[in-house]
Amino acid sequence: MTEADLESHRSDVAAELRADVREGLTAAQKWLPPKWFYDAEGSKLFEEITALPEYYPTRSEREVLAGRAAEIAELTGAHTLVELGSGSSEKTRLLLDALTAHGTLESFVPMDVSESALAEAATAISADYPKLEVRGVVGDFTRHLQLLPGTSPRVVAFLGGTIGNFLPGERAEFLHSVREVLDEGEWLLLGTDLVKDRDTLERAYDDSAGVTAAFNRNVLRVINAELDADFDPDDFDHVAYWNADQEWIEMRLRARRPLQVRIPGADLVVPFAEGEHIRTEVSAKFRAAGVEAELGAAGFALERWWTDSRQRFGVSLARSVRA
Ligand code: AVJ
Repeated sequence: MTEADLESHRSDVAAELRADVREGLTAAQKWLPPKWFYDAEGSKLFEEITALPEYYPTRSEREVLAGRAAEIAELTGAHTLVELGSGSSEKTRLLLDALTAHGTLESFVPMDVSESALAEAATAISADYPKLEVRGVVGDFTRHLQLLPGTSPRVVAFLGGTIGNFLPGERAEFLHSVREVLDEGEWLLLGTDLVKDRDTLERAYDDSAGVTAAFNRNVLRVINAELDADFDPDDFDHVAYWNADQEWIEMRLRARRPLQVRIPGADLVVPFAEGEHIRTEVSAKFRAAGVEAELGAAGFALERWWTDSRQRFGVSLARSVRA
């Protein structure tokens, strides 16, 4: 197979965005869900972020996966690799190579909200792994996880630290929903960025080249394009703030002056005071004990915990133990 199968759950993207914009931008503390960063332009900007000198998570996680992929293949004997939020699936190749060499892998199921990123990745993987069945799923893994294709044993990989985008309650719910679709004995491979000093964290989310700022402002362009809004992205400053109490990074867009933004597609006019911000992303950072406890509460037993040589990023391999 050369062309990858794509299955879509995103029948009405504009309606979903409209609902999120109405909820988030009429709240007392304005916010938007981070998944709306990832149109074609946003996905491209994120790929650029992963190569920035300040953005260590991608390199740190890659170091772990490069060192442990063979062990992951050995321990899991996976027939199916499911990747949630796969983006470009670049790190996935480390896993695909090891699982292919191990001789058990039959299918790869990447799932992502970005149709463009997914289609590109799935097609490239199909071409490079001709014997692999590739079934891309376009969708939101918080809502479309009911049914995962592929034969058992499956490994669900959720890499990059994207689990940090959930608030704590949503995180528990998400881990439970992954556990629910897995059979006992199947696996979760989870990447979590770790708590560290403020300076390293804030620089990772406010790089000197301004790529993260452009990525952050891109959500305004998405709303302009989909809902006919008149945001001027230059009216907003990019802010990255380490919230040490919550142990998460917050990205914000802060109004430089008082504004009225028209969003006809959501039937809204949104006022901003000078200095008022939209929280556009939470990126939680973790500690080993916390990850093990959260996995345990959701019905996963931690089998392996690895970090990179500088202990900046953690990767867990956990086995589902009870529903
Ligand atoms: C893709 C969600 C893991 O939180 O680090 C990068 C997204 N935001 N720079 C992260 C992101 C700003 C990234 N995740």
